[in-house]
Amino acid sequence: MKAIVFQEKKNFDSLKIKEVPDPQPGPGEVVVEVKASALNHRDVWIIQGLYAGIKTPIILGSDGAGVVKEVGDGVDSGWIGQEVIINPSLDWGENPRVQGKNYRILGLPDNGTQAELVKVPSVNIVPKPRYLSFPEAAAIPLAGLTGYRALFTQGKLKCGETVLLTGIGGGVAALMFQMALAAGARVLVTSGSDEKLERAVQSGAAGGANYRNEEWAKEIQQLAGERGIDLIVDSAGGDGFDHLINLVNPGGRICFFGATRGNPSTLTLRRIFWKQLTIQGTTMGSPQDFYEMVRLFEQHQIHPIIDGPYTFEDYRTAYQRMMDGAQFGKIVITLE
Ligand SMILES: NC(=O)c1ccc[n+]([C@@H]2O[C@H](COP(=O)([O-])OP(=O)(O)OC[C@H]3O[C@@H](n4cnc5c(N)ncnc54)[C@H](OP(=O)(O)O)[C@@H]3O)[C@@H](O)[C@H]2O)c1
Repeated sequence: MKAIVFQEKKNFDSLKIKEVPDPQPGPGEVVVEVKASALNHRDVWIIQGLYAGIKTPIILGSDGAGVVKEVGDGVDSGWIGQEVIINPSLDWGENPRVQGKNYRILGLPDNGTQAELVKVPSVNIVPKPRYLSFPEAAAIPLAGLTGYRALFTQGKLKCGETVLLTGIGGGVAALMFQMALAAGARVLVTSGSDEKLERAVQSGAAGGANYRNEEWAKEIQQLAGERGIDLIVDSAGGDGFDHLINLVNPGGRICFFGATRGNPSTLTLRRIFWKQLTIQGTTMGSPQDFYEMVRLFEQHQIHPIIDGPYTFEDYRTAYQRMMDGAQFGKIVITLE
């Protein structure tokens, strides 16, 4: 089969399309013919050498949708020919509150979805909702799962509440935006691009501010008005994080799942305890989160916002867009 193989650590030029042996399904596993795959910032962190446990050669890619081609021992052969999406959370474990010690994300250390075929445990495939195309379905798994858990399982977002989503151009943020609107929340956003802010407002955001402007936090506060902000979901971290503590309502929640901008140099602890805030870390999600996320998409017939799609051969453009932060929505690579 053809696969995009990352061959040498910290070397983007070593990411090449190569002919590699087809994966064979072991007991309890299936092989999926990938029709579309999507990028996550994780893929870029790995290429840049900024991720734990990097090994080469490796086929990256956590997101995929396709058709089941083969099943291993113990797997219902009725899966063969079924259109599926893949849950990239491997071996979550028994505790819904936190992943277990064998937990892995598809696409490192296990070979991922940027290939014609991928091997996954059968418990990690879910029928693809019919209303979604393969590129749309491939856009959902990792980001949708992370965003669903952040908003609902951890963030406890309710209809009528106000949520602030930072960096709305990001893959996870764009899916959270659609899910939060579908759940009946009022959504405020930030972005480093006025164009992306405008797009978000046209798509239903109640307002937004550009985080490159020094006054962005004040602007958000004004937009939030009397109702304020009940929940903030962030993955940028950095020095902007302390502003979030000011912005959220007393008794409010801040959920975060990334630190794109690194650690904050200041964290005003007094304000956290006096305002009785919940600051909640979150990562990916459990099988239950994945199931509920797909159900939410289906129930509201949400079509994820896609950047691209790019052809398999044009994978370098897709990666470059993520490195440049140029995308709005999920960057998708098609194999059809
Ligand atoms: N823990 C987990 O399970 C998990 C899962 C998924 C992702 N993550 C992490 O979460 C982060 C986002 O992932 P992604 O895949 O959505 O990445 P992405 O598609 O590359 O999005 C990154 C976005 O961050 C925004 N950003 C950059 N600087 C910012 C700042 N100072 N303030 C606010 N936003 C800022 C930008 O938004 P604009 O374009 O709007 O400016 C950019 O588009 C990454 O650090 C990733 O590693 C963690």
